[in-house]
Amino acid sequence: MIGSSPIIAEQRYGRGLEDLVAGDTAISEIDGRAGRLLYRGYPIEDLVGRVSFEETAYLVLFGEMPDDSQLENWSAELERWRDPPQAALDALRSVPRNAHPLAQFRTMMTVAACHIPEPENTELDAQWRRPARILSWTAALAARAIRHLEGADLVPPRDDLGYAANFLHQATGRTSSTEETTAFEASLVVQAEHGLHAAAFAALVVISTGADLGSAVLAGMGALSGARHGGANQLAFEMLEQLNGPGTARQWAREALARRLRFPGFGHRVYKCPDPRVRALEPYAEALLDANGDGRLWNTYLALREEIEGALGAKGIFANVDSITGLIYHPIGLPVSAFPIPFCLAIQTGWMAHCLEYLPDGKVIAPGAVYIDPTA
Ligand code: COA
Repeated sequence: MIGSSPIIAEQRYGRGLEDLVAGDTAISEIDGRAGRLLYRGYPIEDLVGRVSFEETAYLVLFGEMPDDSQLENWSAELERWRDPPQAALDALRSVPRNAHPLAQFRTMMTVAACHIPEPENTELDAQWRRPARILSWTAALAARAIRHLEGADLVPPRDDLGYAANFLHQATGRTSSTEETTAFEASLVVQAEHGLHAAAFAALVVISTGADLGSAVLAGMGALSGARHGGANQLAFEMLEQLNGPGTARQWAREALARRLRFPGFGHRVYKCPDPRVRALEPYAEALLDANGDGRLWNTYLALREEIEGALGAKGIFANVDSITGLIYHPIGLPVSAFPIPFCLAIQTGWMAHCLEYLPDGKVIAPGAVYIDPTA
């Protein structure tokens, strides 16, 4: 699109601001042609299975891999905030029971954000504590939303468990196996940051106005909830669940392709090649499903992916991360309608990193629009 205003006549961008570059960042690099994702210079393949979510969050937020003492301090800070304000937990009582779990989670976070002391909202030297508080409080709130779906109470946190294992413990009410924790941690690591996607940009717009970090994260949560964004992992799994084996999956996909269906969990604004996060997570999903005697679901997924990519790959449409995470969350026992919540837990790290990176600049984000004269 070419604007008609003299100021923006030279700008070129597609619908949905496609191809418009909105800023600089040192946080991540995404190569949508080669299928590469790097956090602060580290390819995700070098991180997944090797570092914890705590280390990844430190890297994404503060720009370097923590040494032992930095990691110890950061982990202690995260542990310190495992109990969110009671008022935030209680807020769930005022939300309709059939509201989407992500909306329930967001509502609790709205209350929690009011409990972040005011000076921390503006002082850059409080950058460390605010993200720690949000990462840890949201893990408990997320677990509370998931338990609520099952009519169960939140179980207290366990100080002997890391971020991933403790979240699973609080969300499922049982201690997860090493394989479950490793797979879930891998999903947190590869989803911790992804550039200025719609939700990150929403958070950035909010922080640019001088608003607090909690409000920025809440804006990100709202943007993430849509079916074309973080809501897609739930829809992708629901689609897969209805297919009864690889044969049915192939036949259904051919019919759906003929109807030009938009498949949840496929296609991406940036990746026009296989999504590196899918490649990184597939071995974990396959192992968990095998261990659960759910090999048929795995083969159904593979058949569906092959059929859709075979037909649409030439157009740059491949499975994205939302097609695979459900195959980790499901065998762990997380309810399908809650799948967008763990995605949110991971990706809010990147939102906060972008906010903290942007803050010193401080320029409010306020783009223009081309006026279309209705009388012309
Ligand atoms: N299934 C089938 N076709 C798809 C598709 C999908 N999942 N995603 C895109 N396409 C097709 C569109 O129909 C369109 O075809 P056309 O040019 O023949 O009309 C073309 O690809 C471009 O689609 P467009 O919506 O303009 O691309 P985009 O870059 O704006 O969209 C997404 C990116 C992610 C919103 C889109 O791929 C999508 O809706 N995917 C499903 C939801 C999803 O998984 N979201 C999570 C992303 S991590």
